[in-house]
Amino acid sequence: MSKDDFILKAEGLHKSYRMGATEVRVLKGVNLNIKKGEFVAIIGASGSGKSTLLHILGALDKPTKGVVKFEQRDLSRFRAGELNRFRNRMVGFVFQFYHLLDELSVLENVFLPTMTGKSIIGWFACRRQAKNRAKELLAQMGLTERIKHKPYQLSGGERQRVAIGRALMNEPRLLLADEPTGNLDSATGNGILDVLETLNRAGQTIVMVTHDERIAQRAGRTVTLVDGKIEHKNSNNL
Ligand SMILES: Nc1ncnc2c1ncn2[C@@H]1O[C@H](COP(=O)(O)OP(=O)(O)OP(=O)(O)O)[C@@H](O)[C@H]1O
Ligand SMILES: [Mg+2]
Repeated sequence: MSKDDFILKAEGLHKSYRMGATEVRVLKGVNLNIKKGEFVAIIGASGSGKSTLLHILGALDKPTKGVVKFEQRDLSRFRAGELNRFRNRMVGFVFQFYHLLDELSVLENVFLPTMTGKSIIGWFACRRQAKNRAKELLAQMGLTERIKHKPYQLSGGERQRVAIGRALMNEPRLLLADEPTGNLDSATGNGILDVLETLNRAGQTIVMVTHDERIAQRAGRTVTLVDGKIEHKNSNNL
C-alpha cells in the first residue's frame, strides 16, 4: 500500500492538562493511522481521553507532544489561516449535543459553514449553489419537510441529522463524530448509525468516538483507548 492511502496519522500523541500544581496526563503516546475510506470507532471508558483525542485529530486542540499528519502534512506547521481552512473545509465535526444554532433555520444551520470565512460579495456569488447543496443534503437526511424549522422544533434524531448535514456541507475529507448517538434512544441512534454507514459506503472517511461496544461494532474497525494509549484490538490493525 502506498503511504498516500493514509488520510490521517497520529504519532506519539501526548496531552496533559495542568491543574494548579498537578499535571493530569490524559494521552500518553497515542499512535493511530486512518486510511482513506475507513470507518473507525475509538472506544474507551468515560474520562479515557476520547474527546481530547478527537479534538486533537481535528485541530480543535493541540497535543502537548507528538505529531498529527493530515495527508502527510504536519498540522503543527500550519499557519493560523491554513488551520482555519483545515477546520472549515477538510474536517467535519458531529457532536453529542448537536451544537446547532437555535436562532437559525435548519437550512441556514446546514449552509453556515460555507458562509463562514467569506466576504459578503463572496457569499453572494455562491449562495444559490450553497443553498442547493444544503437542500440536497437535507433531502439525503430525510429532512426536506423540516428545512424551515428551528432546531428546537426538531426531535433529537432529526437534530443530529441536521448536524451531520452541516458537517458535510463543505465536502470534508474526514468526518469526526464524538458520541453522535450518545443523547439518543437506541432506535434513533441506530438511524444515525445507518446514515454514517451509508456515507461511509459512498466513500466518506469517518472516525467516531463512543463508549458503547455495540455502537462501535457498526464501524469497520475498532480501536480502544486505555490508559492514555491505543490498544489495537484486531491483529491486522494499523
Ligand atoms: N480542559 C481541561 N482541563 C483539565 N482537564 C481536562 C480538560 N479537558 C479534559 N480534561 C480531563 O481529561 C480527561 C479526559 O477527558 P475527555 O473529555 O477526553 O474524556 P472522554 O473519554 O471523552 O470521556 P466521556 O466518555 O465522558 O466523554 C478527563 O479526566 C478530564 O477531566
Ligand atoms: Mg467525551
